[in-house]
Parts: sequence; C-alpha cells; structure tokens
Amino acid sequence: MKSYSIALIPGDGIGRVVTAAAWTVLEAAARQSGFALTVTEFPWSCRFFKETGRMMPQDGIETLRGFDAILLGAVGWPAEVPDSVSLHGLLLPIRKAFVQYANIRPHRLLPGVTGPLRAESFDILCIRENTEGEYSGAGGRVHQGTQNEVAVETSIFTRAGVERILRFGFEQARSRRGKLASVTKSNAQKHSMVFWDEITRKLAPDYPDVEVTSYHVDALAARMIMAPESLDVVVASNLFGDILTDIGAAIQGGLGYAASANINPDRSAPSMFEPVHGSAPDIAHLGIANPIATIWSGAMMLEHLGEAAAADRVMKALEATTAGGIGTIPGKDRTEAMTAAVVAALV
Ligand code: NAD
Ligand code: IPM
Ligand code: MN
Repeated sequence: MKSYSIALIPGDGIGRVVTAAAWTVLEAAARQSGFALTVTEFPWSCRFFKETGRMMPQDGIETLRGFDAILLGAVGWPAEVPDSVSLHGLLLPIRKAFVQYANIRPHRLLPGVTGPLRAESFDILCIRENTEGEYSGAGGRVHQGTQNEVAVETSIFTRAGVERILRFGFEQARSRRGKLASVTKSNAQKHSMVFWDEITRKLAPDYPDVEVTSYHVDALAARMIMAPESLDVVVASNLFGDILTDIGAAIQGGLGYAASANINPDRSAPSMFEPVHGSAPDIAHLGIANPIATIWSGAMMLEHLGEAAAADRVMKALEATTAGGIGTIPGKDRTEAMTAAVVAALV
C-alpha cells in the first residue's frame, strides 16, 4: 500500500487539538482511499522551549527534511515566551529553509456558514510571498533604551524572489478564472514596491490569457470587504499577504475556517500545511476551537501529495458537515463534535 510520511508539529494552545482533529479525519480519508499516512510527532513548542531553551533541536530542520510533508498546528504562547523568540525559532525558519515561497490561502464560504458580508459568492485565492520581504529579519536597534533610540526593520525583495511568486500567481490565475490582483504600496514605498510593480508589468506579456491589475494594498483591503466577488487570485508580499489573509479569514466566517499551504513548488524540500490562525490562548482550554481550518489545510496536503480524490473526499465531508449546520457558528459546537461529524460525513 502506498504510504506517506508526515511530520506532525502540534505546537501550542489550540494547535494541539486542531491537529489531533485533522489527523483523525485525514487518516480515515486515507484508509478509504487506499493509502496510508504514517505520523511522526514532534513536541516542538513554547513548552519545549521552557524545557530545553530551544523551539526545536539544532538539527530540527534536517530532521524534517526527509518527510513527505509537515502538518503544523500553531506556534506561540506569548505569556511564557516572546513571539519574537518562538516564531523565529520554529515556524519562520521552516518556511525559509524549505523554500516554501508560495503561501496559498483560499477564502470562500463553506455552505451554511454566514460571514459578516452580504456577498456570499466570492472565491479568492491569496498567494502570499513567504520567504523574504518584510519578514527578512534584517535590521536592528541602536542607542537602546535612550531617547535617541532607532529601530530599523529592513524589507528585502530580490528579483528572483519577486519573479517566482508573481509567476506562481499568474499560473494559479490561469488555472482558475484568469484574473490576478498584484498588490503593493508603490505610492508610498518607492523602492521595493515600485520594483514589484515593474516586475508585474514585465511578466504580464508571458500570460496573455491572464488579466492582471495592480492594486494598492489599502484599496485591495477595502475591495475584499466591499466587492470580494470581483477578485480571483491575489498575490502580495509577506506582510501584506499576512494581513489580507486575516481579512480573508474574517469574510469567510472567522479564523477557524482559513486554511493555508506553505508550498515549495520545486519539491526540493517538504511543504508545510497549517491553519492561518494562531494558538488562540483566549479559548485554548474551552474545547471549542474550530478544527475546520486545519482539516482543510490537511486536504491541501493530500492534494499536494498527489491524492486528489482523498482531498476531495475531505472537502466534501467538510461541506456536508457545515451544510448540516454543524461548525457554522463560532463557539456553538465543541471541537470533538465537529470532528466526529466530519469523520461521519466521509464517504
Ligand atoms: P489567533 O489566531 O491565535 O487568535 C485570534 C482570535 O481568533 C482569538 O480570539 C481566537 O480565539 C480566535 N481563533 C483563532 N483560531 C480559532 C479557531 N480555530 N476556532 C475558534 N476561534 C479561533 O491570533 P493571536 O491571538 O494574535 O495569536 C496568539 C498566538 O498565536 C501568538 O503567539 C501569535 O504569535 C501566534 N500565531 C501563530 C500562528 C502560526 O503558528 N501560524 C499564526 C497566528 C498567530
Ligand atoms: C501567519 C502568522 C505568522 C505570520 C506569524 C505567527 C509569524 O500570522 O501564518 O499568518 O505572520 O506569517
Ligand atoms: Mn497571520
């Protein structure tokens, strides 16, 4: 029987329960589809940091490299470990080391879920640059603690990095409704964002079947709320993509519905699948975390592994579950009840 090796990193807070839920669903879907998923779980988290002084072992990246894919819950427990330490010690290094430069985040309403908007028929695919830009980590602070203190956070945009994410966006648009929104803030940021716009214009002739429009990020943010049905594929830098995808999550009903795939398109290293949301400390002990975002991310993992039928099975089960009124109202159903309903809906 065909088998895939998955590295599971539950992480912190609700990351632990939503990955457990997703794993139950994915294993059942794999069994039905005639292949196996083998899991190796890594306890890397803020708790691990408190015990060892590291978010993951020194050879953590090399350990993960041999897996077919990584499923991650959420990283961060700011009451105990500063986010600047936890995220830079686990999540962000994995995205960079494995060149997962395309972060794919779908935003649409599952049946039965009512978002905050009147529009119900949007289907947006956000493609977020995932390895450079505003998240480069370059910069520093001088004259720390004095009135003369200066903090610098340098965004780094490379031609290779911008070209590859834009090409990825064009390709995605080509395989969908043929529309690409390229997002910058080139009216204010005159180096990196003008550069991004120039590259967008340079690549456009290679994709004559794609209608590309450049938007400023502030205008695009408003458009996602006022006219989400006018958007197809949206491609944005690391930070802009981060913010826009929380808007995307909001319009699809909340963070509990927003899935995400950190893709290494060249397949030179494993890709990683995780919900858009974080560890949700405010609800971590209440048993009401919505597992749908992580289950959906798991479906994206199955698709990436080449198991499209199994991925479809999981998405159909999610849709049947919400269509039946389960998991449609945040806080109403318990995590186990939602998970059991999805498993029961697998056919
Ligand atoms: P968050 O996404 O954890 O929570 C924001 C709000 O959404 C909270 O009210 C939370 O209860 C709600 N929420 C999130 N996921 C939910 C779910 N599945 N079901 C129901 N409600 C849900 O964002 P935050 O509070 O800013 O961050 C908490 C911690 O998580 C921080 O340490 C942050 O850095 C980290 N974080 C990690 C990731 C990641 O690992 N990919 C992503 C975002 C935030
Ligand atoms: C996300 C998260 C992360 C990001 C944080 C936790 C560093 O918000 O995956 O959207 O900004 O990439
Ligand atoms: Mn985010």
